[in-house]
Amino acid sequence: MEIPLIKTIDLGYEVDGKTILKGINLAIEPGEFLTITGPSGSGKSTLLKIMATMLSSTEGQLFYQNKSIEEYEPTAYRKEVSYCFQTATLFGETVKDNLAFPFEIRDQTFNQEKAFSALKSVGLEKEYLTKSVNSLSGGEKQRVALIRNMLFMPKVLLLDEVTSALDEENQIIIRSLIHQLNQKQGLTIVWVTHNAQEIQSSNRMIRLINGVVEEAK
Ligand SMILES: Nc1ncnc2c1ncn2[C@@H]1O[C@H](COP(=O)(O)OP(=O)(O)OP(=O)(O)O)[C@@H](O)[C@H]1O
Ligand SMILES: [Mg+2]
Repeated sequence: MEIPLIKTIDLGYEVDGKTILKGINLAIEPGEFLTITGPSGSGKSTLLKIMATMLSSTEGQLFYQNKSIEEYEPTAYRKEVSYCFQTATLFGETVKDNLAFPFEIRDQTFNQEKAFSALKSVGLEKEYLTKSVNSLSGGEKQRVALIRNMLFMPKVLLLDEVTSALDEENQIIIRSLIHQLNQKQGLTIVWVTHNAQEIQSSNRMIRLINGVVEEAK
């Protein structure tokens, strides 16, 4: 058996004496497509943020490729495990500012062709590159945020309700793109969603209720 990419042992999170997550034991294998579902407030985003090292668990342990998360340098880890927020956050003035950033942190010059082809993969024309981020719709922002994470392919993509701000047509574009990355390139996906259709198409699902795993299939 392969080494799990991400593994949690009795992971828990407490804040102000309130238990948000408890006893989470998960092993995510390379190439897996895991869906996390559950009602609002059940701890889905918190769990994803812990996996993204944006939050530290208050109990238990988190491993990446069998090494404790503390042994990794945060920026190196985030190049391998990439996180997309529930609400897209763009920075700077233009779409290009956002798409140039992944090149900058790798000391590379901006590759315009690569940016164009990424835009195209989510149904956005070349002209979008120079558009102001303030002029984009919610769904367009979400798509730009998504490709910002995919210009340099991570090993794991953590996606938090990334289709919730999109209309039906764009939901289909994003879902099929993510499935393709998983199936053709073996990208490991952890997908948080409420959407019944998305739940049906996943090959492994867990449901969180009040911070604990209630159901797994
Ligand atoms: N820093 C914090 N301080 C206090 N409570 C918090 C904090 N972070 C999260 N919570 C609480 O933890 C619970 C889980 O929040 P989380 O965002 O993980 O839920 P979720 O399952 O992603 O919900 P949704 O489906 O609405 O996005 C909620 O009750 C939330 O109010
Ligand atoms: Mg959430």
